[in-house]
This record gives sequence, structure tokens and C-alpha cells, in this order.
Amino acid sequence: MRTMGFFPLLLTATFLCVPSSGDQFTSVSRADRFLSLFSVIRFKNSMCSGSSGLSGTCYTYKSCVNNGGTSSGSCADGFGTCCVTQLACGSRTANNCTYIESPNYPDFFNEARTCVQTISLNADACQVRLDVTEVNLVGPDSKGNCNNDVLKFSQDIKWTQVCGITQNTHFYLDVDPTVSGTLDFTFTTDGTSYNRRWRMKVSQICCDQLSMAPMGCGQYFTSTTGSITGWNSQGNPDFYLSGQNYAICLRQELNTCSTTYLETTPSGESFYPFCGDTLEWPGVHDPASTTNRDQTCLPVGLTGSPLIAPITIQQQGPHYFYFVTKDTANEHTLTDKLIGNINIAYTQNAC
Ligand SMILES: *[C@@H]1O[C@H](CO)[C@@H](O)[C@H](O)[C@H]1NC(C)=O
Repeated sequence: MRTMGFFPLLLTATFLCVPSSGDQFTSVSRADRFLSLFSVIRFKNSMCSGSSGLSGTCYTYKSCVNNGGTSSGSCADGFGTCCVTQLACGSRTANNCTYIESPNYPDFFNEARTCVQTISLNADACQVRLDVTEVNLVGPDSKGNCNNDVLKFSQDIKWTQVCGITQNTHFYLDVDPTVSGTLDFTFTTDGTSYNRRWRMKVSQICCDQLSMAPMGCGQYFTSTTGSITGWNSQGNPDFYLSGQNYAICLRQELNTCSTTYLETTPSGESFYPFCGDTLEWPGVHDPASTTNRDQTCLPVGLTGSPLIAPITIQQQGPHYFYFVTKDTANEHTLTDKLIGNINIAYTQNAC
């Protein structure tokens, strides 16, 4: 007589997101003549390193390729495949950890085109994290407006437009899958002769995850030292963009008691937006002082002094900077220099 048993041989499911998520692999094996083991192997769809050096997510082979991914090595003790997804223009995927790339990245392209790349959102996603390797588009005019190339997002209003050059930083978009189950990245390039390319890794963060950024934070820094830069901080010129309205948030790490901020704006520039645009920051408010003030904008007519002189702030975190650039007519130049972009190095100091 033959017995059918249910033996979960491998159960590593500690689902952070949806309890029903995770890939399932069913196998029937005959342990001996009398007993069949019916094993359900369930594994978490966690991040993995693909053999190409890119990150991927551990999925079954089938769900990987059905969603436009490529199998790049194995994971979950061989039951899963490390699924690397590089999304082409006009494509859509639900795969987590997807690279949004320009055609034939890392090659550049130089032509007018519209490229829409779409992420299908997990029902429990609250945020999308963008790890930007590079977004390299024609830069803005001297008022921060993207008149030539532009990247737009279909959800969230933190940035109405993105252009110029941005490298090696991250951003968070807040999303609501009940309003729209997709997030579109629409890149429009015009006929300006320029070599463009982009690559960003897109991860979906679920609402119950500890790694979620506080809602509304467009950037969230969680290490004791780091460098705060924004969209087009590597541009040439690196004018800050108009149409931004977001918080830059810093978690205060354990056993740190103060934070030192240092402006790292390139020489010949001074990041101090004209009024109409503002940067509010957790500095000391001293209106009489020409440095170390949390005054947020420069009345037209004054020349720039550093917005942030090196300063150590004793107050506990989290620290929030609010970067709001609503004025599309504000010039981003002073008579003798550029106003530039946000570039701040920070260090959280031990107690
Ligand atoms: C996507 O990947 C990130 C990073 O590994 C992970 O924290 C997150 O939970 C994943 N999201 C989903 C929807 O599984």
C-alpha cells in the first residue's frame, strides 16, 4: 500500500511582503518502493547576485522568463534561478530588482525617441527605490527646466521632470497600487546632438518592510557617512532642477550623538537658491550670521555665501532637508558664478 505524505522538506519562507508571495516548487520523489514523498519547496524571492555581476531576484525559472527576466545562475539551493531583468523600451515587468536601461546600455545613443519602461507593482508595494547608476540626458536650461530631454514618472509628484546627469545615488517614489498598478518611466529625447544613456535598478518596497523610507522622503540615508546629491548634481552645468518638492531624510544611527555637514559644491559654484526655491535644513537659525543659518533662499540681489558652512548639529535625528524648487523662472546663476546643485557630505559622530 502506498502512502502519500506531505513533507515540506525545505521551508525558508519568512515573507516580509505578501504571505502568499514566494515561489513554490513541487516535486514528487520516490524515496522507496512504498513511499512517495510529495514535497513542496517554497523559497523567498530574495535578492541574489547574477553571474553577470548585476543583481537579480530568486524566482522559479518559469516565473523569471515569463516576466522578461534572464536566468543568471541558481539560488535557493538550486530550486530557483537568479533572475536578472533588464527592461527594454516599451516593455513591462513585475520582476523585483529590475534594471531600467537605455537601448544597448552601456552604449550611448544620439537620437530623438520616446521610451516608456513600465513596472507592474506588487499589490503590497508602497514605495519604489531607484538605485541610479547613471541617468545621462541633455541638461536643463539656466532656470532648471528640462526643455530638451526629460524623464517623467507616472506616479508621485516629488519630481515633475528630470534631466541632466545623475550618478551613483538613490531615490524613493511613493506608489499606490490601488490607484494604478503600474509605474511608468517615460524618457523623451529630442533632436539635440548628445550621447544619452541610463541605468537604474528598481526595487519594490512593501508597506510593512523595515527598510521602507519614511513616507514622503525622496531620499533616505541610513549610514553614518554619506554624500547627499540630487538629480543633475553631476551635470555640466549642474543646475538644480525646477519642479522638485521632496524631503531628504537621514536616519540617526545607533550610538551617534551629532551630525557634521559639509558642503562639497564644486569650486566656482555656490549652492544657494534664489527665493521662490528653497532648501530647508536642520541647521542653526541665526539670521545675523552669514554662515550656518537655516535661511533657505537668497533674496535676489545678494550674492551667494555658502548655504552650509561646516557645522556639527547636536540634535538627535532623523534629520530632514526639504528641497522645494517650484519657481520655473528663477535664474540659477549669480553674476560671478553658478548656483549649482545640492552636494553635502555628512558624518554622524560617535557619542
Ligand atoms: C524587492 O527586493 C527588495 C530588495 O531585496 C526587498 O527588500 C523587497 O521586499 C522586494 N519586494 C518584493 C515585492 O518582494
